[in-house]
Formats: sequence, structure tokens, C-alpha cells
Amino acid sequence: MKKLWGGRFKSELASEAKCFSYSLSTDFELFDADIELSIAWAKALAQAKVLTSAEKSKIIRGLGAVRKKFVKFSNPHQHDPAFGELCAMYEDVHSLIQAELEKSVGAVAKKLHTGRSRNDQVTTATRIWLKKYIPLFIKKISGLQTALVGFAEKNQSVLIPGYTHLQRAQVISVAQPMLAYTEMLERDKERFQDALGRADALPLGSGAIGGSTVPVSREFLRRELGFAKILDNSMDATADRDYVIEVLSAAATLMMHVSRLSEDMILWNTSEFGFLHLDDAYSTGSSLMPQKKNPDMFELARGRSGRAFGYLVAALVNQKGLPLAYNRDLQEDKVALFASLKTCSITLNVLKGAIATAKIKEDACHLAAKDSFLYATDVLDYLVSKKMSFADAHEAVGKIVRYALEENIELNEVPLSVIQKIHPPVGELYYKIFSPKVSVTKKKTTGSTSPASVRAQILKWKRVLK
Ligand code: ARG
Repeated sequence: MKKLWGGRFKSELASEAKCFSYSLSTDFELFDADIELSIAWAKALAQAKVLTSAEKSKIIRGLGAVRKKFVKFSNPHQHDPAFGELCAMYEDVHSLIQAELEKSVGAVAKKLHTGRSRNDQVTTATRIWLKKYIPLFIKKISGLQTALVGFAEKNQSVLIPGYTHLQRAQVISVAQPMLAYTEMLERDKERFQDALGRADALPLGSGAIGGSTVPVSREFLRRELGFAKILDNSMDATADRDYVIEVLSAAATLMMHVSRLSEDMILWNTSEFGFLHLDDAYSTGSSLMPQKKNPDMFELARGRSGRAFGYLVAALVNQKGLPLAYNRDLQEDKVALFASLKTCSITLNVLKGAIATAKIKEDACHLAAKDSFLYATDVLDYLVSKKMSFADAHEAVGKIVRYALEENIELNEVPLSVIQKIHPPVGELYYKIFSPKVSVTKKKTTGSTSPASVRAQILKWKRVLK
């Protein structure tokens, strides 16, 4: 098939070189964006008197026809064998559109590439694509947040041990970790939004490296394509992909959060914790052990975070050491970008369903929250309220804990006589400390796991996410 650069070459590209370098199977994703920027470019060329008004209209109509012809290959129909054939024929999405435009409107199509290069074209298309995709992607993160908040709301009165160092620490509401992940995901959304802010800049009009001899108005192109600003340096515009790295970095951080969330769900789902029941629709069995019900969706989410980290590192290494300006290495940015966002996107969807359908096993939670040692901090607070200094109280509770451990009894089974030997003012009230509800209700700070604070957090999220 006719290439955009055939003239200086005597022979065809070797077939393995074609296979190695053709990128249509990846950058077809930019099809709509490339049509859109080509339409804007045709208008700019007409303004610059490179195209007559009739030629401009013909080209724009032709681009519309090309769009119509290939819309069938938009996701998820890319398994169509005809798409495979197309990918073997054309070097990239720009070559495909140019060739198809020529088929559609004839020789006038050959004027469209005047003054532009695929170097400013491809990065403009990628930025246009991100401007459409990222807002939708952010909505997917909100979807997972909504599932987490729903789960938190339903189970806010269920109290469980909270862990530090994966050791039982203090009593918390089931809602508190769910709302913690909701906060993390909110910052992930901000990171994507922030990255998008910097990606929202126009490279088109920068040519291959040094700008364009055609006096197109870049301000017109900016307005036409809806970019917030124009990139001021043609080499920066064509050669940097920092905005791709920023998106990949936001995706890696998001998946790190998703992986931690998954790990907590996996732990809660073990027989050892027993806090969680996963719906059959989001669990799998073992081929050998009939009793097993495995949290595979969460394991895969945890596992796939590795891909997202890998794509970020791939993009960083890809650009490190590249001399200015454009190098073909940069074609790889899209492989990482599309694959990473696709992985994140499906992961968000599946986890949303898995969390929305999961159920808390209240009895097991209740039992676990009875562990008297969870209340050591509450005992400490009680001693402080009995006029002991914090440091002395810490020491004293340490002694009560040691006594209980040595006697192999619970903390609330230590006789009052023993406790009073350590701190005489302690009374029967000591034994009232060991209640999950009392423990969480005593928390007074905003953002705490007290019922009032949990309610306030849920209310906030319902407002933010609606
Ligand atoms: N497919 C190429 C890419 O994604 C388009 C730009 C090609 N430019 C070139 N000078 N070979 O980077």
C-alpha cells in the first residue's frame, strides 16, 4: 500500500521490518482524533490560502466518508479479520486515513499533508484522545468509590479490629477502611485531572521539528480543537511525551491503591479473618479442592497493578536518553498508554461489582471485636482520665497486659486487686471499657472512626459522588 514517504526509496520494506514497525493495530485508537485534527488542519490550510474553499470542503467531506467507512472497527470489533488485513497494509493510522482520503476524493487529498508532519500530528491526536478518554475514566473511578461508600453505609455499625503491622490494633467501623480507600481514589482522580490540565496544549503547527513554512494560524487550530493553550516550542511539542508519563504515573498510583484494597478484601475473605462473604458471581473454585471459593477477582486486580507499574517504567525508559527531537521510539508511548488505561478500566469495573455484591459476616466481626487486647489503648485513656500521666499509664497498661498474658487470661479478666496494685484509683468501671461501641464512640476527632464521624464522612461522599 502507498506510504507517506515512498519517493526516495527503491525497494519495499522487508516483511519482518513491516511487522516490526507498523503500529496501526495500536494507534487505530486515535482514528477519530486524527480525523478531527485533519479537518481542523484543512480549515487552517484554506485560511492560509493553500487550499481553495472548494478543495477544503471536498477534503472535509472525504474525511467524513473515511470516518463512516471505518467506524465498524471501533472497539470492540477489532477481532474482525478485515481489521487484521488493514493492519498489515498500513504503517499507521495517519497513513490509513491519508490513503483512504485519496481513494475517496482523489488528487486533492494529496494537498492535506502540506505543512504538517506525522510528528506534530501523532502527539496532537494523542492529546485529543486523552481529553476525551480521561473524563470518562475518572467517572469509572467514581463508580468504584460509589460502591465503597455504599458498602460503608450498609455496614457502618459493624465493628471490627483495625490492624497496624497486621496486628490487631484498635476497634474500628467496617466503614472506616472503605472510606479511607474512597479518599485515596479521590486523589487519584485529581492526579488524572491534573495530568490532563498539562496535556491540554496544542502541538499542531510544529511540523516535523522546526515549525511550518505554511503560515497557518495555530491560534485558530487551538480554538478549533478546543485546546487550552498552544505549545510554544516546536521541538518540545513534537518530541516530549511527559504528559503520557504523567497519565501512566497516575494510573500506577491508582493501581497501587486498588491493589491494597484488594489485599484487604482478600484478607477479610480468608477463613482466618472470616469478615467477608464474596458473591459467587465474583469468586472462583478450585479444580482439585471442591471446598474452595477463591477471591480471584481481587487477586487479579492486585496482580494487574504490576502491569500498570511496568507501563510507567517502560515509558520512562523509552524516553530516557532520546536525543531531540522526534525518534521512532516515541511510537511505543501509545502501546503503554492504551494498555495501561485499558487494564485499569476493566479492573475498576470488576472491583465495583465485587464490592457492591460482597457481604459482611457480622457474627465473625462481632467475635473478633471482642478480643480484649484491642482495648489496651482504651484502658490507657481511662487511666489518664484517672489522673495518671500518659507515660505512666502506658507503663501501667503494659504491666496489666503482661499479667494477662502470663496468666493466660483476657485483659478484662485481670482481677481488680491486681489492677489496683498498679493504680489504686481504678474501679469497677474498668470492666466497662471492653465494649466495641464504647471504644469507637469515645473517639472525638474529625475523621475518626466514631459513629458520628463515620456518618459525616459518608454524607460528604454521597454529596461529592452524586
Ligand atoms: N506512528 C508514528 C508514531 O506513533 C507516527 C509518527 C511517525 N513519524 C516518523 N517520522 N516516522 O510515532
